[in-house]
Amino acid sequence: MSSNAEIASAASRVLLSNYRQAPIALARGRGSELWDADGKRYIDMYAGIAVSTLGHAHPGLTKAIADQAASILHTTNLVFNEPSIRLAEKLVARTRQTSGAAPLLTRAFFCNSGTEAMEACVKLARRRAFLAGESRRTRFLAFHQAFHGRSMGALALTGTPKYWEGFGCDVERVTHVNYGDTDAVRIALDTKPGEYCAIVVEPVQGEGGVLPAPPGFLSTLRSLTTDHGALLIVDEVQTGIARTGKWFGYQHEGVQPDAIALAKGLGGGVPIGAMLVREELNAVLTPGSHGSTFGGNPLATAAALAVLDAIESEGLVERSAALGERLGARLREVAAAHPQIFEGERGLGLLRGLLMKPGVEARTMLVAARSKGVLLSVASERVLRFTPPLTITDALVDEACSLVDAAASTLDAPSSESTLRSG
Ligand SMILES: Cc1ncc(COP(=O)(O)O)c(C=O)c1O
Repeated sequence: MSSNAEIASAASRVLLSNYRQAPIALARGRGSELWDADGKRYIDMYAGIAVSTLGHAHPGLTKAIADQAASILHTTNLVFNEPSIRLAEKLVARTRQTSGAAPLLTRAFFCNSGTEAMEACVKLARRRAFLAGESRRTRFLAFHQAFHGRSMGALALTGTPKYWEGFGCDVERVTHVNYGDTDAVRIALDTKPGEYCAIVVEPVQGEGGVLPAPPGFLSTLRSLTTDHGALLIVDEVQTGIARTGKWFGYQHEGVQPDAIALAKGLGGGVPIGAMLVREELNAVLTPGSHGSTFGGNPLATAAALAVLDAIESEGLVERSAALGERLGARLREVAAAHPQIFEGERGLGLLRGLLMKPGVEARTMLVAARSKGVLLSVASERVLRFTPPLTITDALVDEACSLVDAAASTLDAPSSESTLRSG
């Protein structure tokens, strides 16, 4: 097998240079531990950015993928396939607010990524207004620092201008306001009455820096969208599938969205995205108006079914909430022990972040933690993000936090500016 260095060198010749990649190649994983091509062991505290819900080589997921591959991989959407129907049934059933209540969202559209799920939501909102004869209702309201994906539609909603630069996407039709600022939302809607087709919001801004919505924010957005005839679209790509300690992030506040977007943790590592919508919106995307070759294919949906089954049978919704508290407490201890480096901790469930002190780059900490054997990601430039598999053990969480603490100690020492800023 090739070494990290050999793989990185080959990559530099053939891969498009659009990613900033760490100089390691992950070769295998088991549970929440990973090994690189040189045999170094890591604790997985990022789960491929909130994707590997069940960790690595989970027996149930592995078997479901192997069984489905041995049966039929792909069918097209010109016919039905049973795993996709079963998955839709399971997903919509989880959208109910309390057990025994009717599901809020009743219809599923499957695609292959979070971006595609958001793109479907964009098209749904625009097309709904078009079918209602409301030709002026084409504007979206979204939030600064929001991340919704990188296709031309989803990119326009994304609230970080550096991602749009040079692409000519339709940001003119999107109003971005500060996350949590209900007055700004109200003013924006009142200033252009009848123009907004939807508000798009994350329950916790993930890429924007692991920032949970302030209490009451989603409920206010719900009532404002209802008053203004716009849809409330909740982007659950990062927060959904038990990541925040509930099946979906919106359930923390009991709001009723019109549509949600899912991806990341849904397939546990197999690419799949989904848009779930209310029954009334089922008529908007008519045959031919939207679709996907791979969307909902038997392999991806069988994998997602296995993920949902394991979440249920292993009690991972509750585990995400409880372990999230434990991780949050440990990270607050780490932050308190290194006040020159960290400003504090924030997050929900197993979506957590350590906020860096101004002038200290999260990436520097990420590199230090990796050399100690902990894999993390960075959200915005100021937050070190923790999104471990929902199956991670208490012992590994504690070990990872001790290693991050040790990594921070290497940066603490004679607090030179150059140490804190080096990548
Ligand atoms: C909230 C949110 N929406 C959409 C996306 C885009 O998802 P994908 O990268 O699967 O296209 C992401 C990815 O990070 C995300 O966090």
